[in-house]
Amino acid sequence: MTSKILPLFLEGQVVKGFGRGSKQLGCPTANYPLSVVQSLPDGLESGVYYGWAQVDVGPIHKMVANIGWCPFYKNKEMSVETHIMHKFEKDFYDSNLKIAIVGYLRGEKNFDSLEDLIQAIKMDIHQADQKLEQEDAKKLVTHTFFNKL
Ligand SMILES: Cc1cc2nc3c(=O)[nH]c(=O)nc-3n(C[C@H](O)[C@H](O)[C@H](O)COP(=O)(O)O)c2cc1C
Repeated sequence: MTSKILPLFLEGQVVKGFGRGSKQLGCPTANYPLSVVQSLPDGLESGVYYGWAQVDVGPIHKMVANIGWCPFYKNKEMSVETHIMHKFEKDFYDSNLKIAIVGYLRGEKNFDSLEDLIQAIKMDIHQADQKLEQEDAKKLVTHTFFNKL
């Protein structure tokens, strides 16, 4: 199902999440507003995805994104949280974030401990890094979505 929906292109302003990503997980995530979450196509599975991200008109970086309810934290609202695989010097709330979701890694899981969640995210980042080296994935960096004026 999901494979027909991908690649999926999303764009919106970065809003504040619960702020647990950086502090507890050592993995900052950029959150989209509800309007972007509500625009997701029917049939998109919740879970962890990989792809490309661009903040404003900056460079395009690899990313991993969690789409769903974060069972570990039992969120009430669905969210799209993007971890950009690049060290930014400062926060970019209110900036425009474009993401191209290229592929699916796994379903959302609950974990017995924060440490287990952190380990799973590290593994996701490692896998995303490798999958985005494939030519099919790299082609999307030159897609008009990122390059239109
Ligand atoms: C790559 C990645 C994978 C994630 N996988 C899960 C998961 O399997 N289960 C879960 O409950 N949350 C998962 N999360 C979500 C984290 O729990 C979430 O980013 C954290 O709650 C921080 O949210 P906040 O910035 O809104 O505070 C994942 C996040 C990322 C970036």
